[in-house]
Amino acid sequence: MPEQSLNIVTGAFGYTGRHIAARLLAKGARVRTITRRPGPAGSRIEAAPMSFDDPDALRRSLEGASTLYNTYWIRFEKGPVTFQAAVENTKILVKAAESAGVERIVHVSITNASADSPLPYFKGKGFVEQAIRDSRLSYAIIRPTLVFGSEDVLLNNIAWAIRRFPIFPIFGDGAYPVQPVFVGDVADIAVNAGAGSGNAVLDAVGPDEYSFEELARLVALFMGRRPKVLHVSPRIGFALTKLVGYAVRDVVLTRSEIDGLMAGLLVSRSEPAGATRLSEWLAENAKTLGRSYVSELRRNYRGGRYMK
Ligand SMILES: NC(=O)c1ccc[n+]([C@@H]2O[C@H](COP(=O)([O-])OP(=O)(O)OC[C@H]3O[C@@H](n4cnc5c(N)ncnc54)[C@H](OP(=O)(O)O)[C@@H]3O)[C@@H](O)[C@H]2O)c1
Repeated sequence: MPEQSLNIVTGAFGYTGRHIAARLLAKGARVRTITRRPGPAGSRIEAAPMSFDDPDALRRSLEGASTLYNTYWIRFEKGPVTFQAAVENTKILVKAAESAGVERIVHVSITNASADSPLPYFKGKGFVEQAIRDSRLSYAIIRPTLVFGSEDVLLNNIAWAIRRFPIFPIFGDGAYPVQPVFVGDVADIAVNAGAGSGNAVLDAVGPDEYSFEELARLVALFMGRRPKVLHVSPRIGFALTKLVGYAVRDVVLTRSEIDGLMAGLLVSRSEPAGATRLSEWLAENAKTLGRSYVSELRRNYRGGRYMK
């Protein structure tokens, strides 16, 4: 990578994008993000507004960049934030990148994204992948499974529940598989893909596959807890997550996320691309994991402006 080449990273003040940006900065690149946030004082990351309603401004923010690393997406719909809007916004971003002369896009998607999926998250991701394939940009589409790491929401909140409650409810039989991948490995895969030139679609999956119940038990084991696992129907499980959601003022999980988890969509048939084992990471981090609840609403909905 030439010194001081400019890269755009959406989500550089967020979770996965933060790790991508850190690696690019470490390689001597300039990083600009397109965001709703002002960004921390003294950050080496330049911030430009996420102005999907002003494609010209978006194009100017992208000018001079060689590669766009895109992590922009929403976890669930709320008010004007819809999956359809997120698809349209991403198309606007891709068009703006084309007209700004950006050469390559590294797009973070999800395993088993498909325009035919009945689940809106996976369906929207499928539409976005198609828009990227149809664009003039060279592309690498990175498809992670469940991403774990220090600022993660799902694993942290599983740990939070295990710390607080003597019972841990599992939707259905808990046998559905997950193959978690470390956020640092996803960032490495993305940055390596950015340095390439051909079109590629890569699953970013970790080395170990667990059933969801095994995953929860592994987290509990490293935390030194032994909650009673209670198998509940997805309907009852969803009602319980809603109850907890009222208490913590968050959407803990959506019904569609539960269905996606139970459909076993967070695994891949590809060779593991990430080397970090969840068990090794838990050995280092279980002490602090889940000490406080991480709210998706606070992180991505209440704090920032709603994005149409
Ligand atoms: N986390 C996982 O376990 C996981 C698993 C598989 C795939 N992925 C994919 O990986 C990518 C990054 O995920 P992440 O968890 O690291 O996300 P994140 O950092 O929380 O957010 C990434 C980006 O989405 C924007 N965003 C998030 N919620 C938004 C909202 N409600 N309204 C408007 N913009 C919003 C953020 O904008 P700001 O910069 O303005 O905050 C940022 O650009 C996503 O495409 C996701 O689908 C994640």
